[in-house]
Amino acid sequence: MAAATACANIALVKYWGKRSSALNLPAAGSLSLTLEALSTHTEVELHDGDEDELVIDGRRMEGRPLERVRAFVDLVRLPAADRRRVRITSANAFPTGAGLASSASAFAALAVAVSEAFGAGRSSRALSVLARRGSGSAARSIFGGFVEMVAGEGDDSSSSYARPVLDARIELAAAIAVTGSGPKAIGSTEGMEHTRRTSPYHEVWIAQAARDLELALRALRASDLDALAEVSEGSCLAMHADAMAARPGVVYFQGATLRAIETVRRLRRSGVPVFFTVDAGPHVVAFTPPEHLEKVAAALEAEEGVARVIRSRAGEGARLVESWVGREGPP
Ligand code: DP6
Repeated sequence: MAAATACANIALVKYWGKRSSALNLPAAGSLSLTLEALSTHTEVELHDGDEDELVIDGRRMEGRPLERVRAFVDLVRLPAADRRRVRITSANAFPTGAGLASSASAFAALAVAVSEAFGAGRSSRALSVLARRGSGSAARSIFGGFVEMVAGEGDDSSSSYARPVLDARIELAAAIAVTGSGPKAIGSTEGMEHTRRTSPYHEVWIAQAARDLELALRALRASDLDALAEVSEGSCLAMHADAMAARPGVVYFQGATLRAIETVRRLRRSGVPVFFTVDAGPHVVAFTPPEHLEKVAAALEAEEGVARVIRSRAGEGARLVESWVGREGPP
């Protein structure tokens, strides 16, 4: 039995496009902040039965989610020459059903727990390479705080990994404005692949992503929040412009998304250091120094169409923890 916890992360410089789907290699680097409030706890048990089992938030999973996890477990199980099956139990510490369920925290926690269960000790870098095979953003959740994803080169899987930004001189917290309803948007894996194949802007986007990463790292190290805000909002909007330019266009924004973006910009004009980002969905994440978090969260809460606001500090990296089996439930 092995148990691990990992936190999701939100990108300030977005990952949107792969150079290899088979190895899940990103076309450019990215930058994120790991968030404490969005955590996943995962336990892996080995057994001699015939089937792998996956239970997420109390629900037994079959079909594609189970296949994706089985293929991931095989990356550790086959080299370990161990034929045992796994029983995976996973629980998210954030409200499910709000469209926040994250492959980042899920595959980071799973990478740590599965490696431990099969006795396959790995360095943090190797864990992040492994987590990347499950989901690109999961590589970043192996580490806490600000994290850079290195794109790497060619077909070399080990060349693309995440690493913590140890010399950042900005501290940020996040207010996550949960907005939106209606049919589920197209998932990020599918959305970015469709964009890569059909958007006339994609090459320009990838070239800009690499430049944005350098600019953002420089801003973090120079304690220049204005510069970080500009590059991060620019990266988010350019990613969405790329997706919208696909044929047919992929539109993640809803009315409330645009209103929340405007709220963040209005706050900034009034002197509050805050900036927004939006992933492959309608929710808006506002980044701000911890001392401004409550004010930003309250302003977003007052916005029409914002169902709730989750407040989060920066979180730690993925780690082994005690099992909760035999207890009330996840810690
Ligand atoms: C918009 O990591 O979910 O959140 O590698 O296909 O699993 P796969 O994609 P995923 O994509 C994340 C996209 C994003 C931007 C980001 O987190 O950088």
